[in-house]
Amino acid sequence: MRAEDVSKVGVVGAGIMGSGIVEVCARAGMEVTFVEATDDLVARGRGAIERSTARAVEKGKLDSEGRDALLGRVRGATSLDEVAGSDLVIEAVVEDLGIKQDVFRRLDGLTRPEVVLASNTSSIPIVELGGVTKRPERVVGMHFFNPPPIMPLLELVRSLATSDETVAFARAVGERLGKTTVLAKDRAGFIVNYLLVPYLNFAAGMYEEGFATAEDIDAAIHLGLNHPMGPLTLLDFIGIDTAVHVADVLYEEFKDPLFSPPPVLKRMLAAGWLGRKTGRGFYTYER
Ligand code: CAA
Repeated sequence: MRAEDVSKVGVVGAGIMGSGIVEVCARAGMEVTFVEATDDLVARGRGAIERSTARAVEKGKLDSEGRDALLGRVRGATSLDEVAGSDLVIEAVVEDLGIKQDVFRRLDGLTRPEVVLASNTSSIPIVELGGVTKRPERVVGMHFFNPPPIMPLLELVRSLATSDETVAFARAVGERLGKTTVLAKDRAGFIVNYLLVPYLNFAAGMYEEGFATAEDIDAAIHLGLNHPMGPLTLLDFIGIDTAVHVADVLYEEFKDPLFSPPPVLKRMLAAGWLGRKTGRGFYTYER
């Protein structure tokens, strides 16, 4: 299939990343069916898309007719069977190998054999997902960044088994979605997290050692390097649980202490101080 012929997309998982990916695909004119485990989670995913698109209207990025049409192209479901007719499926469930493999095994049985199955994973080798299907050459990483409707990058990840045709297809889909694509090998962290994780770990370590206050560490990077947020604000934004998980996976792969999460992050994780989503991380947030 050619990227321009993709009209129906399935998205599995509608958390922060999944709901953002749904919005991006629907924005590009595709009919999107997303799947969540329960009706409540479907409603939560839809709510996130409604809020984000309302903000896009407020910011002048979308008009209200465009928003209505976008929302009209989005359908939520609780059964994976509902994505059976999709031209492309993007998986964005929790970063757990067993759960993702189960999704890929089932998608392989449900969808037409020529359909590309993509994963938004930030840490799991694509080859391990392709390996449970009969189409490993059509399994590829499509790693979006948070928040997907705003961040212009899409990292594509080719496994040892991914075909050139699939990579070209994923690149063309990415362009249709308005993203700039980069291509990475199937190594933990791909490009962005390989560079980002040591930086975030060091920032948390500096804070722990009392080099400077959280506010000063963030102000230094925000104003001194013109990053949109400093590292501790970014950790709160990503979520301490996600940050520790990604760091653990990188450490496991490369055994380089640069990737090992510092104790402060592990203690925050244990305390449930996960950042914005729980209202407390390096900073406190109104919820
Ligand atoms: N749809 C489209 N555009 C939207 C929008 C929406 N729903 N909501 C806002 N926008 C637009 C705004 O109009 C604005 O555009 P202009 O610059 O043209 O004016 C832009 O998006 C920024 O919006 P805001 O001004 O409302 O927000 P902000 O300036 O506070 O920025 C932010 C918010 C984009 C999150 C910014 O702080 C940022 O880029 N932070 C860093 C995020 C980051 O690093 N993400 C990567 C995390 S790592 C990851 O995801 C990988 C992993 O595996 C862990």
